[in-house]
Amino acid sequence: MDLFSLKGKNIAITGASSGFGHHFAGVLAAAGANVILGARRTDKIADRVADINASGGQALGVPLDVTVPDSCADFLRQAGEAFGPVDVLVNNAGVEAGAKTYSMIDEEDWDFVLDTNLKSVWRLSKMFTETVIKNKQPEGNIINVASISAFRTIKGQFPYAVSKAGLVKATEIMALEGARYGIRVNSLAPGYILTDVSRILLESERSDTFVKGIPMRRYGEFEDLDGPLLLLASDGSRYMTGSTIVVDGGHIVSEL
Ligand SMILES: NC(=O)c1ccc[n+]([C@@H]2O[C@H](COP(=O)([O-])OP(=O)(O)OC[C@H]3O[C@@H](n4cnc5c(N)ncnc54)[C@H](OP(=O)(O)O)[C@@H]3O)[C@@H](O)[C@H]2O)c1
Repeated sequence: MDLFSLKGKNIAITGASSGFGHHFAGVLAAAGANVILGARRTDKIADRVADINASGGQALGVPLDVTVPDSCADFLRQAGEAFGPVDVLVNNAGVEAGAKTYSMIDEEDWDFVLDTNLKSVWRLSKMFTETVIKNKQPEGNIINVASISAFRTIKGQFPYAVSKAGLVKATEIMALEGARYGIRVNSLAPGYILTDVSRILLESERSDTFVKGIPMRRYGEFEDLDGPLLLLASDGSRYMTGSTIVVDGGHIVSEL
């Protein structure tokens, strides 16, 4: 359907070397977008870029460490030079610190998770906004990958859950402040899907309890995110900003 077409849109995705970002790059390219993939593991990025280009898409890989300001600036510059100004920034890169409570984490854990999951989103979004303004682009679009950890309260996810709750609030404030530049800002809040970030929870002895707590009685699959992602990336969501779309099989409305 044309409303959800991404033809001609240039989309930069952080954390595209594995998991969601790796999957998102293919979904967005298949819908017609030119995609720029960033992450530190450049070999994995190169493989994904080759897959997408071989299947008729347009993709470019750029090395990116979201915790390093110069690397972020370089990523957005190269992304803008590849296919033309970036229309959509997908802030997807994320890390967790292991199963630790607030009293177990140390300064390093806090900085590692908050710098990657929250500070880098602010930094990249600020840089993207400056570019949209400088290029006189009529609009821009930012999609933040949050998590249901922003809404559920469980033990042993302290800095991660705090970073994602912060990201939901950052989304709302950036939406409010970015509207004057034509920039929409929304979040996707997935439930649990098996990747390196969630492995520690989903492969623990708590896993059965988690599944029982999901009304749809299963963990998510990458493909469950495709519809919401295409909605947010396309003009299908042209009157949406400041929203967080929860995609979790009902997990956050569960009694458990
Ligand atoms: N899996 C779930 O159940 C779930 C649920 C809700 C939300 N999420 C969120 O989804 C996002 C993607 O995670 P995932 O589950 O797909 O896990 P993943 O497979 O581990 O992917 C994480 C990605 O982030 C990148 N990354 C980490 N640190 C980075 C840095 N400093 N600079 C650049 N890229 C960096 C990694 O690439 P490199 O290591 O190559 O740099 C990797 O591509 C995260 O924000 C996560 O919090 C996941």
